[in-house]
Amino acid sequence: MSRSISRHLIALSAAVCLAAGLAATPATAEPRPKTLAELAKKHHKYFGSATDNPEFTDAAYLKLLGSEFGQTTPGNAMKWYATEPKPGVFDFTAGDEVLAFAKDHHQKVRGHTLVWHSQLPAWLTDRTWTADELRPVLKNHIQTVARHYKGKVIHWDVVNEAFNEDGTYRESIFYKTLGPGYIADALRWAHEADPRAKLYLNDYNVDGINAKSDAYYHLIKQLKADGVPVEGFGLQGHLALQYGFPAGVQENIQRFADLGVEVAITELDIRMELPATPEKLATQATWYADYVKACLAVKKCVGVTIWDYTDKYSWIPGVFPDEGAALPYDENLQPKPAYHAIRKVLGG
Ligand code: G3I
Repeated sequence: MSRSISRHLIALSAAVCLAAGLAATPATAEPRPKTLAELAKKHHKYFGSATDNPEFTDAAYLKLLGSEFGQTTPGNAMKWYATEPKPGVFDFTAGDEVLAFAKDHHQKVRGHTLVWHSQLPAWLTDRTWTADELRPVLKNHIQTVARHYKGKVIHWDVVNEAFNEDGTYRESIFYKTLGPGYIADALRWAHEADPRAKLYLNDYNVDGINAKSDAYYHLIKQLKADGVPVEGFGLQGHLALQYGFPAGVQENIQRFADLGVEVAITELDIRMELPATPEKLATQATWYADYVKACLAVKKCVGVTIWDYTDKYSWIPGVFPDEGAALPYDENLQPKPAYHAIRKVLGG
């Protein structure tokens, strides 16, 4: 090959490479901003949102749920009233729908919840039970549900909201009929059914160090000493601006980590008295950032779940009529200051 032909070939191939390179990354293209899930992953944590089946008809909602979040929790679909509506008759339709969505979007799923005093079917609450009658019913419920979802959920909130604010046991049907040992039994039965899911106790108003979180601290310490498979503590994190930010969140997370369990922020939302003002939304943004920061500071805090992501589907207005605006996206699915504050704290 003559020198001039090879010079032409080199020039041509350089031009082709340049053209291909420009086509692949046009100089004007903005890199796609990282999602909350991607940002959290850099800290080895997940960032998730609860969801609920009626929302599955809302395409714009689902688009964000599937793209921005790396984890989801069914808000109602796996509760007793949904999964065992008649004695011994199980229905996994709603939970399976959430799982299928999560699988399609590469999301982890937290199972919520096997034993809770609320949202129980009428057949369970409309009569009295002896311990001998209730025990096999509880065991069958836990094991049938946990077996169905075996390998598909990373965590189970095995027992939800077991304590009162003063640290005494909540007088649920399970406590009143079976005594406090129902918690250890529930954990053991769940572990038999799904040995790989991390088993959690989960509650609200346990963000800081107080009588209720102390009760969990002592219970978990005892359960671990007895060899009971408790592996996580869930801080629900339903906060309200009018009550102030709980003191000592990071210290509280750390003391559970030091007991040898992991910690998850499981149901974070921060409500306010309506109307929302720019000042209140700015305070809310700081609170979200501070809560997420507390989780980031503790290695064994594995992730944060917000209790749905948009004010459009928050549970708050249904329960607290003059309160709301609790989530990082508004009712039109537009990000609020809280969303930007969370991104920032995650390094986005
Ligand atoms: O299923 C009925 C439906 O048939 C009816 O048409 C509709 C009319 O109101 O109500 C539906 O039931 C609602 C149910 O959610 C399912 O959507 C209940 O009224 C409603 O009270 C219930 O609220 C749920 C609440 O738990 C019950 O306590 C919320 O969606 C759910 O987000 C909330 O989640 C709890 C966690 O599980 C535990 N921690 C606290 C958190 C907030 O309360």
